[in-house]
Amino acid sequence: MLRQSAQWAIDRFGIDNLYHCLLDRRVPKAPWYSGDGSTLMALLGIQVITGSVLALTYSPSTDSAYQSVVYITDQVFLGWFIRGLHYWSAGAMMIMIVFHLMRQIVLGGYKSPREGTWLVGVPLFFGVLFLAYSGYLLRWDERSIYGIRVMLQMLGRVPLIGDWLVLFAQGGPSVGPATLARLYAFHVLVIPLLMFALVAIHLYLVVIKGTMTKGERSTPIHSVSQQREIYKSEAASVDKGETFFPWTMLKTGTMAGIVIGLTLLATVFIGPSKLYSEANLTESTMPAEEWWYWWLSGLIALLPASIAPWAVVLLPVAILMFLLLLPFVDRSPMRGARNRPIWILFVIATVVTILLLTDYRRRSPFTAWPESSLPAIPVGMTLPPDAERGRVQFARYGCNSCHAVGKSNASFAVDFALLRGQLSREKIREYILNPPAGVAMPSYAGRMTKEELDTVVAFCHVAQTFPLED
Ligand code: HEC
Repeated sequence: MLRQSAQWAIDRFGIDNLYHCLLDRRVPKAPWYSGDGSTLMALLGIQVITGSVLALTYSPSTDSAYQSVVYITDQVFLGWFIRGLHYWSAGAMMIMIVFHLMRQIVLGGYKSPREGTWLVGVPLFFGVLFLAYSGYLLRWDERSIYGIRVMLQMLGRVPLIGDWLVLFAQGGPSVGPATLARLYAFHVLVIPLLMFALVAIHLYLVVIKGTMTKGERSTPIHSVSQQREIYKSEAASVDKGETFFPWTMLKTGTMAGIVIGLTLLATVFIGPSKLYSEANLTESTMPAEEWWYWWLSGLIALLPASIAPWAVVLLPVAILMFLLLLPFVDRSPMRGARNRPIWILFVIATVVTILLLTDYRRRSPFTAWPESSLPAIPVGMTLPPDAERGRVQFARYGCNSCHAVGKSNASFAVDFALLRGQLSREKIREYILNPPAGVAMPSYAGRMTKEELDTVVAFCHVAQTFPLED
């Protein structure tokens, strides 16, 4: 009886076909690192499950979002664990997707006949970047607001449609409830659904086009038919091939198991990411972001102020173009790390740069992004020319991401209008170049020209005489 039911189910649900087409097939032996794709799949699964559980309690409204995250963390049974796991597997996904991408660049994994697999992978990469970004904005703490401002800066600088994009992202003329609703919709619905579709295509292509084999790595390949020959003979061979289930799956599963194990350890021992104080849209906010974007803030802080605002939009576009064009530009027949020394250097240089920028940001945890809006000056007042130029530099160097000027409500750092002229130009200059240890302000020594510094000092100096708004 039981056996008959099992037979029935296997037939009616097409499980036998699935087994023959997907699992019980000969493939060339997979190397240890080929588990990165399965690891990403497993992490995505964890994100979907933990994300769904979080969504049961999270409230995507500006009045209660922050409280609901606090409630999840402190009150809900195992809430801290679910939130922590969602957070750490997001971090693991960021690391693994970079690994996955970099290894394809080193090996030449995007070469024919796998260009399609690669081209579907590129938007998936950006999808993960977006999720890892929008996710921490949903907490609606100070860091979220700063992240939203950075996003609006980026969008606003897109040529022609920038203003429209900002309105669309905000959901209105300013950041408010609609902004959070839109971020939430994109984080839990729009982007994940698109990604599921792309993941399905990506996997389908991985199955029918295979992944790069040892044979392919050791001979120059000039045509698709040559590649197919090599692939087929390896798959069929006793010592160069294996059956997908269980042998390949065992290897890929091992990597997934190790990464998930580490993720669980981080969740239990470190716990979910700390919350800053609740978002307050009228105050200036703490310039902070999650560690996986530290490199970007480090880069923006180190770039000259004339380039930084443009780098903000151009960098993602440049990365996108580079990735999309790569399979069409790199036409060499060589695959495998050993035959591609230039690409090894490229990947090492990229990874080292990311690590150095991350470390720079870690050691100087307070950097600021350029702001597109100038600090307001009191109505009817004209500034002396040097102070007026300083006002522009003040925004370009992102001073106003921490310092409000002439607003009565508190800002993250001191509002110059509160100082009432007590600081001399000399003191101000000294402070900008060498903020005292422990003060959450970056040093601008070596980052400003003398002329820029002079004008910023002039601006800060007059700003002390601004009246305070009530
Ligand atoms: C990451 C945030 C941040 C950024 C960016 C920043 N500051 Fe500051 N700044 C602070 C903090 C914090 C203090 C210490 C005073 C306080 O706690 O409010 C401070 C203090 C100062 C002071 C001394 C005020 C006093 O009361 O003695 C000056 C002058 C100053 N900043 C100028 C600047 C200028 C000019 C820029 C841009 C070039 C800038 N700051 C960028 C956070 C920042």
